[in-house]
Amino acid sequence: MSESQRRSQQWYAGDGRNAYIHRAWMRRGLPRDAFDGRPHIAIANTASDLTPCNAHLTEVSRSVADGVWAAGGVPLHLPVVSLGETLLRPTAMLFRNLAAMATEEMLRANPIDGVVLLGGCDKTIPALLMAACSVDLPALVVPGGPMLTGHFRGTPLGCGTDVWRLSEEVRAGTLSREDFMRSESSMIRSRGHCNTMGTASTMACVTEALGMTIPGLAGTPAPDSGLLELAHQSGRLSVSMVTEDRRPSTVLRRASFLNAIVALAAIGGSTNAVVHLLAIAGRLGVDLTLDDFDRTGSGVPLLVDLQPAGKHLMDDLHRAGGLLAVLREVEDLLSPDPITVTGRPLTSYLSDARIHDETVIHPRATPLQESAGIAVLHGNLAPSGAVIKPAAATPGLLTHRGRAVVFDSIEHFNATVDTVDVDEDSVLVLRGCGPKGYPGMPEVGNFPLPAKLLARGVRDMVRISDARMSGTAYGTVVLHAAPEAAAGGPLAKVRTGDPILLDVPNRRLEVEVPDLDARPVAQAAADAFATPARGWQRMYVDHVLQADEGADLDFLRGATTTPPTRESH
Ligand code: FES
Ligand code: MG
Repeated sequence: MSESQRRSQQWYAGDGRNAYIHRAWMRRGLPRDAFDGRPHIAIANTASDLTPCNAHLTEVSRSVADGVWAAGGVPLHLPVVSLGETLLRPTAMLFRNLAAMATEEMLRANPIDGVVLLGGCDKTIPALLMAACSVDLPALVVPGGPMLTGHFRGTPLGCGTDVWRLSEEVRAGTLSREDFMRSESSMIRSRGHCNTMGTASTMACVTEALGMTIPGLAGTPAPDSGLLELAHQSGRLSVSMVTEDRRPSTVLRRASFLNAIVALAAIGGSTNAVVHLLAIAGRLGVDLTLDDFDRTGSGVPLLVDLQPAGKHLMDDLHRAGGLLAVLREVEDLLSPDPITVTGRPLTSYLSDARIHDETVIHPRATPLQESAGIAVLHGNLAPSGAVIKPAAATPGLLTHRGRAVVFDSIEHFNATVDTVDVDEDSVLVLRGCGPKGYPGMPEVGNFPLPAKLLARGVRDMVRISDARMSGTAYGTVVLHAAPEAAAGGPLAKVRTGDPILLDVPNRRLEVEVPDLDARPVAQAAADAFATPARGWQRMYVDHVLQADEGADLDFLRGATTTPPTRESH
């Protein structure tokens, strides 16, 4: 793109009054030639003390800015809405679309030509990508990277995953509350996001597989000096992406999403990636459906032995060769066509990749599991689909028939789970936890087991809900049932005692009663659905789409790529 056509020049070029205003207020150290047509690059930064996983991104942003200067651009720090997974109530997911919408509007309304997106914690990279796609400015991501591995009494701690494990041990009486409290200070060893293959690590890897990072960057630990070097390079690259006019719509094709699905399966990534990828594709008008995840991903071997499904942690994956070494093993399943932000295809980066530790990254010939992708279930309990991650489930439960024990809300569950009539063959059903019902589709789908069954040694049961689950969690957990109960889905009509069939090999999820359609919605379920009166929550509940469409807002799908022209003065 020529300098005179540059977006920022629509604000800064010329000697009129408005160009004067735009330049004069920016000249706090910026020389006059900063406005001569060189690319202006926003650094969209989700650093926040209330998003501890991203708190270090301001240091990363300085390396990006150095790179932008070095390549002849002008870096502009742009703090954007940040979402901390562990603190936000009722769930960070409620605000993903808000962060995406706010970031989209700031990218559109400001005089910038490109953007470097700094994210890490679960929802931050998806929100940034959704925003960048809807504005379609040259954009690339610098994932903030995972934290280093912490240890408790000699045992490595997987953050997230081990919280679930240790708290279940407390409930089962095999770990004292005192020791549980002692482990708390060992959980988070360094800057960075969760070190398991949870949602943050998954989304970083998937973003690289989409082509939206410099290849080889995702998974670089947050404290690793390599991260700052690659941040610098990302800053430089953003400038050439503007001159070459390489945009999200240039990089992100249907084949890029299918490559990301292959990566998602090979790394054993989080089910949350399904919702996020569908939402990102929806911004670009790329035709991607829930069933693509099963069709493309379910035959892909699981190669990465990371918690929550396996043993190791992100630091180990990086040491073992990282995502590129994984992708090299499944290169035949990847499309060589889509380019990355560098302009080169993803697959052109694989020939140099090597596995350095075969206990962490298994070679294709000896996978951890032959087929490991996310399975998409259909049936009268989830007409628009539901998902399960077989790699994180108990093999013996993947085909199971049991009696439903139904809970109308997570509060109802918490209040009654230890007194309700239940055995290990029961199927636990939780409703009212979808996008509209909660609202925001929280990560409660891996709800815990009844204490009396835990005490008897039961460690997994079939659980079904319209919720999501933490990417750090595990179990035979059917998630994202759509339509959700609060959108009139059949989950709202199931009753305790109904026989339920889970048949993952045949992709079925059925409640085996003849009169399901004719039944009324359970009143207790309807009473528990959210009815926010005002503000974002009201807008969200009125407009959010179901999980099988990415849980975006209906009016945020697609893009508006024309820059605004009307002046403010
Ligand atoms: Fe931020 Fe896990 S809490 S990545
Ligand atoms: Mg999470």
